[in-house]
Amino acid sequence: MKNKVIFGNWKMNGTNADIKAFLKTVDKKAKNDKVIAGLAVPFTALETAIKKAKNIKIAAENVHWAENGAYTGEVSIPMLQELGVEYVVIGHSERREMFGETDEAVNKKALALLKAGMVPILCCGETLETYENKKTNKFVSDQIKKGFKDISAEDAKKVIIAYEPIWAIGTGKTATPEIAQDVCATIRETLGKVYNKTIAKEIAIQYGGSVKPANIKDLMKQKDIDGALVGGASLIAEDYLELINYNK
Ligand code: PGA
Repeated sequence: MKNKVIFGNWKMNGTNADIKAFLKTVDKKAKNDKVIAGLAVPFTALETAIKKAKNIKIAAENVHWAENGAYTGEVSIPMLQELGVEYVVIGHSERREMFGETDEAVNKKALALLKAGMVPILCCGETLETYENKKTNKFVSDQIKKGFKDISAEDAKKVIIAYEPIWAIGTGKTATPEIAQDVCATIRETLGKVYNKTIAKEIAIQYGGSVKPANIKDLMKQKDIDGALVGGASLIAEDYLELINYNK
């Protein structure tokens, strides 16, 4: 069985002091042979986080695809590499909904990150309306096809996908393990068609949306769920530790 990939996502939370205190508590307890533990933090806390994390992988929450240029307020790949960042969350639904990030932009970001030898955590997921209209599988499958456009099979294997139904994010409503499994299976099927089944099997698919210590075990038992992306619960040291050590 491949290792599970469980990342926290701090969103717009956490000063340098906060992240330092958090990692002091959790990092030494984050050694786990079966789980790759990670944490996405705001740009301003990346340098501190990278210095303090020995066991936890640190991720940025966004990046621009261009190397440099007139993009006020954006951060480039070389800027993240200078700090030692390896993982970057792209296409999170909050960025798509509030900051106009499109599938095309997500694809450009993924291509640029892979070219730079970094790991994109590519998010996808449907709105409540799409879910209620039973269009989830088609919608998410389209997001995946567009997100992976022009990505070679060799590079595709390095991408982590995070399936996060928007109706389950920060709402306390988790998709049941069965619903989450069903969509993750569709994602894998889509990847199987775009590439082939062997490659599709190698790509890690996380579930995200109100994951907490109480529901992680059932989610991780699902065949096509290879990890989790966790918002709210990852801010609490005790919960974060329970999540990344769910198998102990
Ligand atoms: P949540 O957020 O765990 O607070 O629902 C998940 C996410 O947005 O990554």
